[in-house]
Amino acid sequence: MAEQKYEIGMIGLGVMGRNLVLNIADHGYSVSGYDKDISKVQELQSEVGSHTINAAQSLDKFVSILSTPRSIMMLVPAGQVVDNVIRDLMPHLERGDLIIDAGNSHFKDTDLRSKSLGEKGILYMGVGISGGEDGARHGPSLMPGGPKEAYERVRPIFEAVAAYVDGAPCVTYLGPGSAGHYVKMVHNGIEYGLMQLIAESYDLIKRGLELSDAELSIIYGNWNEDVLNAYLIEITSRIFTQVDERTGKRLIDVILDEAKQKGTGMWTSQDAMDIQVPTPVIDAAVVARNLSAMKSERESASKNIKVRAARFKGDRDAILHQLKSAMYASMIMTYAQGMSQLHAASKVYDYGLNLEDVARIWRGGCIIRAALLGNIQAAYHAQPDLPNLLNDSRLGKAVMAGQKDLRKVVGLAGKLGLPIPCFMASLAYFDGYRSAWLPANLIQAQRDDFGAHTYERVDAKGVFHTHWE
Ligand code: 6PG
Repeated sequence: MAEQKYEIGMIGLGVMGRNLVLNIADHGYSVSGYDKDISKVQELQSEVGSHTINAAQSLDKFVSILSTPRSIMMLVPAGQVVDNVIRDLMPHLERGDLIIDAGNSHFKDTDLRSKSLGEKGILYMGVGISGGEDGARHGPSLMPGGPKEAYERVRPIFEAVAAYVDGAPCVTYLGPGSAGHYVKMVHNGIEYGLMQLIAESYDLIKRGLELSDAELSIIYGNWNEDVLNAYLIEITSRIFTQVDERTGKRLIDVILDEAKQKGTGMWTSQDAMDIQVPTPVIDAAVVARNLSAMKSERESASKNIKVRAARFKGDRDAILHQLKSAMYASMIMTYAQGMSQLHAASKVYDYGLNLEDVARIWRGGCIIRAALLGNIQAAYHAQPDLPNLLNDSRLGKAVMAGQKDLRKVVGLAGKLGLPIPCFMASLAYFDGYRSAWLPANLIQAQRDDFGAHTYERVDAKGVFHTHWE
């Protein structure tokens, strides 16, 4: 009897990799799985059931049972591990085989790997996968980039395993080279911005309005029923009800206030700076995580630097109403910044991104899925080359409606001495973006004064220099 051949392979059987293997197999595909850690291979073995899965004990075996040309996906930590897997795989591969990096690799690494593997006749794809463990198991959002022919090879599998919204899979070919990993990076930048906005609203409600965890859960639950409907709002509502098994307290209150990060939000900001696209909400969210990590320094500063802040007196319901509308406006601004970064990056890196597609595949499966993405998709459907969502009439109107409340929320936080950097960044972005005049003439004058860097004039073309008194 001919030996069974497997349609796709997966290297890296951590929770994400294992769940994706099971998801692929659920849809009738045969999958081979391998991990250097034999205990993970055994774990997969124990879940095989009636699926056509081979939990391979060695890399040799893993590669030899794949049908050719081979399609090999890896879900391993970004960085050196990806290069190690490629190095180990190479002696076993032939021209025309395909390697898919489905982790959160830096897009520049993906470009380097694509180039060097391309020279050896190996196809290489960088694919962003979002949705966490549950998404991997039951339907993630997939953001594939790389050679189109490679995508066509795995397309049926990707479309089978993805989340579905309105009958369409949350996956589509995004563009060449590192397009998929770039889009995933910006997805994560938006994720950082939204998470921080929610955390700031929590701070205002908890320390400012002095409401309880039970009340917080209800507030986010209500928000999730309306325009703010979003996965991150939904899980926030649930988080406030979770009880700690050790102490019997609400778990949220025994979790340390130091946010960790793997760096994708920071990469988003770094590249936005490189290509000169303002993404202040995402930047502020990265900074907020960094500040949170300075726990002991903050603790000692809190003893030395005392400010007598006002205590909230007033109508809580009115503030909650304002906060909700400020949140909606700020959420729109966070997506607007991420999308404007994609709009610019698509030109700089030649990705040829279709932003309507990007919005569409984020509507299900991923961490930043939200009802709002339906409106964002519609905005790009109407104007595919829209440079900024704030120019879309429906979204622009929504921000306009929320900006008054955003001002009140920012003012209140200032009075109460509570840090809400992402809300503040949203407001400043809004006011800056809609300003025909900004004080940058003074920056030009200063540069010319101290460094003879020249300046331009409003009334004549060319560059000028003045010998400043
Ligand atoms: C997703 C997530 C995921 C990411 C985690 C942790 O889309 O499923 O973005 O890919 O790894 O959210 O990211 P940080 O450690 O940077 O917070």
